Amino acid sequence: MIPFLLVSRSAEYESRLRALLGARLDVVTGEFLTFGADAVMDRVEGTPRIALLGPVLNYEETHGLVNALAARHPGVGLIVVREQRSDLEDWVDELELHAILSPSASDETTLALFRRLSDWLVESGKADAHDFDEPAATLVFEDTEEEITAESDGEEFDPGEFDQLVQAPPIEVWEFPPLEAGIATEAIAVVAPKGGQGKTTLAVNLATGLAEVAPNSVVLVDADMQFGDIVAALGLEPEQTIVEAVAEAAADEIVFKTSLTHHKDGFFVVASVPSPELGDAVTPDAVGRLIDRLRGAFRYVVVDTTPGLGEHTLVTLEHVTDVVFVASMSVPSLRAMRTEFELLRTLGLMPGNRHIVLNQTDKLSGITVRDAEHIIGAQIDVDIPRSSAVLLASNRGVPLIHDDVRDPAAKAIRSVVMRIAPEAHPKRRKIQRRRRSNDTE
Ligand SMILES: Nc1ncnc2c1ncn2[C@@H]1O[C@H](COP(=O)(O)OP(=O)(O)OP(=O)(O)O)[C@@H](O)[C@H]1O
Ligand SMILES: [Mg+2]
Repeated sequence: MIPFLLVSRSAEYESRLRALLGARLDVVTGEFLTFGADAVMDRVEGTPRIALLGPVLNYEETHGLVNALAARHPGVGLIVVREQRSDLEDWVDELELHAILSPSASDETTLALFRRLSDWLVESGKADAHDFDEPAATLVFEDTEEEITAESDGEEFDPGEFDQLVQAPPIEVWEFPPLEAGIATEAIAVVAPKGGQGKTTLAVNLATGLAEVAPNSVVLVDADMQFGDIVAALGLEPEQTIVEAVAEAAADEIVFKTSLTHHKDGFFVVASVPSPELGDAVTPDAVGRLIDRLRGAFRYVVVDTTPGLGEHTLVTLEHVTDVVFVASMSVPSLRAMRTEFELLRTLGLMPGNRHIVLNQTDKLSGITVRDAEHIIGAQIDVDIPRSSAVLLASNRGVPLIHDDVRDPAAKAIRSVVMRIAPEAHPKRRKIQRRRRSNDTE
């Protein structure tokens, strides 16, 4: 159950709400309104209890969404997110809304409104108290009332009448699914000799795809000690990072678990060091021990690395079962990959399970896949075409293979996932959804 739904065109507001609600929030971006309100509804996971519409939606779009939501999810609480303007009263009169919330309302006010509306939905039998129990927002707020601008629907709910402290649920400590006896856990490092080749893109999508076959038994470690950006690529706002995960205090299992951040697609993230200076606080050996420890609890451990073969990456290679090597269609990148292979052979660190990925292929680069194989002296296992969908997904903080399943780059990345877990087929349901939304074009 994902109790909150946001449909909006504001990436900024989306990240604010994600920070407040974490895994309790499902987001469908307003772009899908181009295909109509039903196309948006097709992308909604489960049965939302409270829907936030806006900011940056017009009256017609909001109206269409209110009707579609009422038809598919009767009893859903409806909040329009927009600045107060003179036409507001018409909106309130004409749409069956429960509240209108300013996008610049404070976190306290926003959470207070959610608490108030969810209590009312429970009291009026439209929702169950446990519907809102999902992974915790971890902040405790004091209530204020001045930024809630209006309410309507003719029933008892009154978002203006706040008189109590709002208590957030307690911090949730996850129980990981037990590992099946006799199945060895796997750790997969994603490495590249140069920066910007697509390591993070692959690591994020590997974790996402593997989580389909092993829900909540996948962890993605951002071991890029310089500019780790997994949390940005996934729109997460972690409370803790790898620094806490390898600290002495994390010898305690509960402390260790709270250093992980949960992603709603069913995996955990160990966030990168918050700044490159702090990279020194995490020794290469600590990274090795962390991978071993995670392999004791998770079916799959995916590790994103710093470009090149620094010490952290070399130690990582000693602790993993598989390595995905990423290069792009440029001669310097391919030559660097060849040098990297030679070095790893010399060090005796060339992994048995090796997957060579050529990323951002396109016909304009002047070299072919065969040329690339010739330069690196090895066979390419998967080539991933250049696609604007990759950047779009990353800017929206959504893993590509769940954002645009029909995109050629997503399909190629999926085939990398299936080299590790052959059962990780794309979900039929998601493909059909996408088709339906395209049909309405
Ligand atoms: N197949 C692709 N098509 C188009 N753009 C891509 C593709 N793969 C990656 N990109 C884009 O290239 C940029 C670099 O990708 P990414 O961050 O995954 O690389 P990286 O190896 O992790 O980089 P860094 O070394 O900085 O950590 C990103 O903007 C990403 O969106
Ligand atoms: Mg990266």
